[in-house]
Amino acid sequence: MAEKRNIFLVGPMGAGKSTIGRHLAQMLHLDFYDSDHEIEARSGADIAWVFDVEGEEGFRVREARVIEELTEKQGIVLATGGGSVNSKDIRNRLSARGIVVYLETTIDKQVARTQRDKRRPLLQVNDPREVLENLAEERNPLYTEIADLVIRTDDQSAKVVASQIVERL
Ligand code: S3P
Repeated sequence: MAEKRNIFLVGPMGAGKSTIGRHLAQMLHLDFYDSDHEIEARSGADIAWVFDVEGEEGFRVREARVIEELTEKQGIVLATGGGSVNSKDIRNRLSARGIVVYLETTIDKQVARTQRDKRRPLLQVNDPREVLENLAEERNPLYTEIADLVIRTDDQSAKVVASQIVERL
């Protein structure tokens, strides 16, 4: 039997990877995974705790492990953490194992979508906009580098974005 395809969603915090990913998985009858959620399930703690206790370095080790394992599967939609693409190993892994969809959005949308959310340790600062801008500068080229498909998520609902992805696959 032919290998079942995988779809990997990459992009910054607040791009809508998890919400869009859930819709997409449902539409394509694939299993949905979220790397942050898997890290929490395996560590028995939330992401903020992992950052507090193990530092960002410890979190990245967990993230690499989880993504390596999940990309062994077939027939999944995976929402990756926004910083996972910093690792060349993870970029190679995603490119090799599925279709990479970059969900692109504006800094304004990212700020609006993440501002009431206390779960993202990197944004628990006085000026999250500045953090998001710096991360965008560093990471947007990396998302672009591995993207098979780039989709903007600014103005449409998650469901509409998911159906646009289905059309363009
Ligand atoms: C991070 C993004 C988060 C989470 C962690 C670090 C990042 O995931 O992995 O807080 O470095 O951009 P989302 O992109 O799902 O918010």
